[in-house]
Amino acid sequence: MLDYKDDANSLISDDFIISPKIENIPRFKPKINLAVLASGNGSNFEAISKAISNNFLDAKISILIVNKEDCLAISKAKSLGIIVKYINHKEYRNRELYDSAIIKILSKYDIEGIIMAGWMRIVSSVLIDAFPDRILNIHPSLLPSFKGANAIKKAIDSGVKITGCSVHRVVKEVDSGEIIAQAALNISDKDTYNTLTKKIQAKEHEIFPYAIALAARRWRDKS
Ligand code: GRF
Repeated sequence: MLDYKDDANSLISDDFIISPKIENIPRFKPKINLAVLASGNGSNFEAISKAISNNFLDAKISILIVNKEDCLAISKAKSLGIIVKYINHKEYRNRELYDSAIIKILSKYDIEGIIMAGWMRIVSSVLIDAFPDRILNIHPSLLPSFKGANAIKKAIDSGVKITGCSVHRVVKEVDSGEIIAQAALNISDKDTYNTLTKKIQAKEHEIFPYAIALAARRWRDKS
């Protein structure tokens, strides 16, 4: 059962909370011009693409950059006519050189914001300084808890009863930038790593498009 609580400014259900409440979605004309970075299953890439095609999010994805040839976002992007670039990080001596290669590609597309949708790489200050405040990441925990890799496992192992996911701005310290939106959900006794992952990812797909719109409002205000 869903219930809106005005004072909490959050969407409350029996087993999750999203904050801020998803309402008054900022609109953009012209559409926000995004680049997405992805490494893995691409479910967040897909959720963002769907939010765009459903007109929930006034954005376009000009380019998808992947660091793995088998990233599942590739075929989805191609089917949508989105340009895909594979940049193999193993071919670069360090993070800075790798990020410089990304910047070189992005410079052709007039990108307003970079979306790390399951980007399994730590970004260096080279990329962060090139897009100050304009890089967003999704992390599968209620930050500032459980930063870094294996956040879902860390939450289970620690015995917390509530976890979730967070969209935040990217700064040099991993998983530490300003939080834009979060979803919290309970961990039940029956939850396994797999069931909890599914629950968290379902919430990621809800909050990420909204968080992009919230962040983009600030990008446009600055421009
Ligand atoms: C998500 O759980 C996200 O929180 C983390 O990596 C996962 C990526 O999933 N950063 P997908 O590739 O979007 O399906």
